Amino acid sequence: MHSTTGAGAPAPSDRNSLTIGPDGPVLLHDVHFLEQMAHFNREKVIERQPHAKGSGAFGVFETMEDVSAYTKAALFQKGVVTDMLARFSTVAGEQGSPDTWRDVRGFSLKFYTTDGNYDLVGNNTPIFFVRDPMKFPHFIRSQKRLPDSGLRDSHMQWDFWTNNPESAHQVTYLMGMRGLPRTWRHMNGYGSHTYMWVNAKGERFWVKYHFHTQQGMKFFTNQEALAMSGSDADFHRRDLFEAIARSEYPSWTLSVQIMPYEDAKSYRLNPFDLTKVWPHADYPLVRVGKMTLNRNPENFFAQIEQAAFSPGNTVPGIGLSPDKMLLGRAFAYNDAQRNRIGANFHQLPVNQPKAPVQTYMFDGPMAYHHSGNAPVYAPNSGGRHWADNTGTVADGWEADGQMVRSAYALRADDNDFGQPGILVREVFDDEQRDRLVEQVAGSLLGGVREPVLSRAFQYWKNIDPEVGHRIEDKVRGGSAPEPTEGMGEGSAPAERKRSVAPA
Ligand code: HEM
Repeated sequence: MHSTTGAGAPAPSDRNSLTIGPDGPVLLHDVHFLEQMAHFNREKVIERQPHAKGSGAFGVFETMEDVSAYTKAALFQKGVVTDMLARFSTVAGEQGSPDTWRDVRGFSLKFYTTDGNYDLVGNNTPIFFVRDPMKFPHFIRSQKRLPDSGLRDSHMQWDFWTNNPESAHQVTYLMGMRGLPRTWRHMNGYGSHTYMWVNAKGERFWVKYHFHTQQGMKFFTNQEALAMSGSDADFHRRDLFEAIARSEYPSWTLSVQIMPYEDAKSYRLNPFDLTKVWPHADYPLVRVGKMTLNRNPENFFAQIEQAAFSPGNTVPGIGLSPDKMLLGRAFAYNDAQRNRIGANFHQLPVNQPKAPVQTYMFDGPMAYHHSGNAPVYAPNSGGRHWADNTGTVADGWEADGQMVRSAYALRADDNDFGQPGILVREVFDDEQRDRLVEQVAGSLLGGVREPVLSRAFQYWKNIDPEVGHRIEDKVRGGSAPEPTEGMGEGSAPAERKRSVAPA
């Protein structure tokens, strides 16, 4: 078919603009030319503030086990198969940045359920850097670029981390192998936060999601990742697309840890603290089902760039939790998308629920779906339905107290260095510990200055005295003071060490 203008009329030419004579000036009334130029200037939408570089694919989630005792969510009933979209990303890099730079990876899922879209927007690590949403913009800015030179800066990153010791667990993951997944197919995904599940009887449970890769976890070394970032900045994007094109469909099993509702009140660590894992000995994994990615996007921009995920998108049978970060996120994402894509981003095919939509959100830029001449207000006498639930909400929890600005109240096992210490000592093997020391020392040698440098040594000694000493020794060229017995707050009590399994 001949190309057309946006209005559908035959386009005059896609090669020559309209001029007076072959060498003459270009004419302003060449509407087709002007339309092409003007639209080109508007071809991009704002990139995501964090997680700008990524890609994804469509697939299905199949619930294979009976977990109806814990949730009535339609998608998690045995035998139900739900269409879905996944997007993977780096956090700090911009659109063109290399996929294989060391970073946490995003793991976003959108399930098109019969009760509306359910989004799970997690990472390839089970925990996070901070536990109060107020800190999030500061954290992201510290990982991005300096205001004057526009350069990434190790000093700024370590300044933030060492000023916020709750980051220690996630920083240990990041500096370990999970910071360099070989491909997106070879990494696990986590919901990270604690969420609520509600069953048909109205009983509530706290859950954590674990997606385990069926391709096996694989990682790059620093050298391999560096070489790849130079030779193919889009390596992860390419790998996923080409694997699916070859019909090698990557899959992940979903298991959840389930905590009875009442346990949360007395558990020895705050189960809503996003910097902590729940030891598997306390809450073992319960298998739910399997997700398989089997369809590439037909158009990257329409289906990946304009995809809008939000942790606030829950469905009946699934709720949020008192995790302050999660509550902050429940606002942030749709707000970002109104700005990034437009107020009616829900109406784009990739974001449209498969369930019927009956919303009073009205008009706005690019409005496409509408309810005809039905009343646009509720309540109304025109027969258009509106919602009117009152009383206790099914997925709520009790809250009481004075309004305060405060960190979470501390429980017996709430310390910032215990779990990262266990990760370093009991989950990492000798080779992983060696690489961790190399990586952290290399990063600190990349321009980190006092007083941040000394704080970083102490941070690592708090995680593990031996590892901290080795890092300092490497950075100071062999002149670090010998570690002393009992140094560091991170030496975990023996019974806790035994109770933690790798996530
Ligand atoms: C209060 C804390 C947080 C805030 C305010 C926040 C905010 C945001 C915003 C504004 C975006 C861009 C959304 C868009 O433009 O579509 C984003 C993307 C993302 N965030 Fe967060 N975030 C927070 C914490 C987290 C945590 C804890 C995780 C993981 C456990 C996470 C994972 C992601 C992922 C995976 C994306 C990419 C979504 C996609 O693929 O489109 N974020 N975040």
